Amino acid sequence: MKQILIHPRGLRFQVAPGETILEAAIRQQYALPHSCDNGVCEVCSGKLLAGHCHLRNRQQLIEAGQEGADYLLLCLAEPQSDCTIEIHNILAPGELPLRRLACQVQHIEALSADVYRVRLLAPAGRKLEYYAGQYLALQIPGVEGAYFSIANAPGSRELELHVDAPPDRGNAREVLRYLRENPTVKVELPFGKACLSKPLSGPVILVAAGTGFAQIKSIAEQLFAQNYADPIHLYWGTRTLAEMYQKELPEQWQLEHKNLFFIPIAADKADSEWQGHHEELCSAISSRHDNLGNTHLFVSGSPTMVYSIYDCLAEKGLREENFYSDVLEYAPRG
Ligand code: FES
Repeated sequence: MKQILIHPRGLRFQVAPGETILEAAIRQQYALPHSCDNGVCEVCSGKLLAGHCHLRNRQQLIEAGQEGADYLLLCLAEPQSDCTIEIHNILAPGELPLRRLACQVQHIEALSADVYRVRLLAPAGRKLEYYAGQYLALQIPGVEGAYFSIANAPGSRELELHVDAPPDRGNAREVLRYLRENPTVKVELPFGKACLSKPLSGPVILVAAGTGFAQIKSIAEQLFAQNYADPIHLYWGTRTLAEMYQKELPEQWQLEHKNLFFIPIAADKADSEWQGHHEELCSAISSRHDNLGNTHLFVSGSPTMVYSIYDCLAEKGLREENFYSDVLEYAPRG
């Protein structure tokens, strides 16, 4: 077996003896462009950065840095060593393609003093593909990184966002201003791995801080749509009860779904520096769950909160592969 490392994504898969890189990728459910599968159309090319490959039916060996390495045809390339290949349009198993579309701004309403619900509508006939728990980017002139969790489960043309826009958050306020003044906004989606991209089984714990509830709401709605039978515990931490801007929603879920347990954690302290709700969340979770060996834990909040919850619950048997948070991607621990 030879190992293929895909640059710059860091994806890896194995190629069996006598197999081409394209055949191995398809067998392992990666998706990448190809057409003729025979070395004619050149759709499947990648740049060989390290290693060497034999070209099937051509009696030719290509090495990184040599002629032909920039346009290695993956449908012919049989690796003779571990290889690193630059490919930009490859999708990992289950990964959805990124799409850009102009959405209609349908509705904006205040859910609390600072949090606003925004409803966007995708164009009719455009496929809106994302997994519950993923996020999108709004293209707002002058605002870098306008990323928001999609707060509703997939399956409709609608996208719900929760925008936290207190007076001191200039970018969020600019996003709101733009959405109020423009009938449409350009959206790119989906992003994020902390999502329901594959079926789960076993208990689920959902943990949100502040507007992290948006991501958790989408996941909960999807689990309900799947008639998920195992227990779902939902912890929502805010600095004050007034900041728990949709508390009545999980309370209603609790009445409708016997396996949903909602535990609100409101610290009743408005001091933005105060981090105590992390500790309160940790102790509330660890006091209710003894063995987390087969539990899936989704956490949506700041890096400090996410890592303190992970550290606290790893002692209870939580497995790394069952821990999902966008923080792991955008703020990995060194
Ligand atoms: S798929 Fe046509 S050249 Fe590889």
